[in-house]
Amino acid sequence: MELVQKLIETHDLTKDEFAELIRASEDPGTAGLLGEEAVKLRKQYYGDKVFTRGLIEFTNYCKNNCYYCGIRAGNKNADRYRLTKEEILECCSQGYALGYRTFVLQGGEDPWYTDEKIADLVRTIKSGYPDCAVTLSIGEKPYESYRLFREAGADRYLLRHETANEEHYGMLHPASMSLKVRKQCLYDLKELGYQVGAGFMVGSPWQTPEHIAEDLVFLKELQPQMVGIGPFIPHHDTRFAEEPAGSVPLTLFLLSVIRILLPKVLLPATTALGTMDPLGREKGLLAGANVVMPNLSPVRTRKKYELYDNKICTGEESAQCLGCLERRVKSVGCVLAKERGDAVQ
Ligand code: 5AD
Ligand code: FES
Repeated sequence: MELVQKLIETHDLTKDEFAELIRASEDPGTAGLLGEEAVKLRKQYYGDKVFTRGLIEFTNYCKNNCYYCGIRAGNKNADRYRLTKEEILECCSQGYALGYRTFVLQGGEDPWYTDEKIADLVRTIKSGYPDCAVTLSIGEKPYESYRLFREAGADRYLLRHETANEEHYGMLHPASMSLKVRKQCLYDLKELGYQVGAGFMVGSPWQTPEHIAEDLVFLKELQPQMVGIGPFIPHHDTRFAEEPAGSVPLTLFLLSVIRILLPKVLLPATTALGTMDPLGREKGLLAGANVVMPNLSPVRTRKKYELYDNKICTGEESAQCLGCLERRVKSVGCVLAKERGDAVQ
């Protein structure tokens, strides 16, 4: 197919071409071709290595109300928790012993965790584990807050843009949120020297091939070091409870497209992908992904960080997840790399 060739040769397409490619994603052969090229590029830059990130879900309080999310402020049924500094440091200590060299502090937008508290956490982790990267994933903040965290030593920041189409953004979020602000945050983070991760859900309500095409154009423009994508999965306590989940084959197809678009990108095979398909993460690696993000959160809080229904790994100890992933990664000819795993330059 001509578009596949063009994408492979130029690492880019126009918005209309992306949309056409996505509409043809079910053509036999297309996904295979893209997958092969994606794995070739992944191997060229990263060999057989798959990087691990220890995910610490440290608060499920959130002041936002994203319509798709199980821990949105309006969900009165969510059982809220916050980990203490000591509990977070205990997760890091366990994680370090298991070989993790990146800690991802992920949480809802929780005002109890003031900028000073976050900066203090980052400083403490960085001084205890100077050979580790600290990634924050705590939502939209003013430039000055991002600067404070950066000065405290934060290396990376994950903030999915969710959808690059203004109108679609408005259908997934309350009027208090805007795509403009989201994008500004991403550019602020880049300017501050963070390694930045953007991304979106595949198959979110009302998403069209044109929307996804806009996501891809935006990613090419932003040039993030990381891109997180996973299928949308309905959560029973949201207005999207009855909506269909996103497609695994389309997610895999898009992982390959993103690997080709941004060959050196760090691309996780996400938990959402593993939730929709028992072999989803393995398939993700075979489509061009090169990162896995096992959970380091205490078992007693795991079920409570419920962004969507049926989330996997919520009953496992950290060590069990790591062992499980080690086997899974091996099964597709890769090795789990116990290192920081920065993007290649
Ligand atoms: N299904 C899939 N992914 C979701 N996220 C939030 N809610 C859902 C859902 N219902 C994703 C968002 C967010 C990330 C932390 O989790 O993309 O950025
Ligand atoms: Fe958690 Fe498999 S990765 S149990």
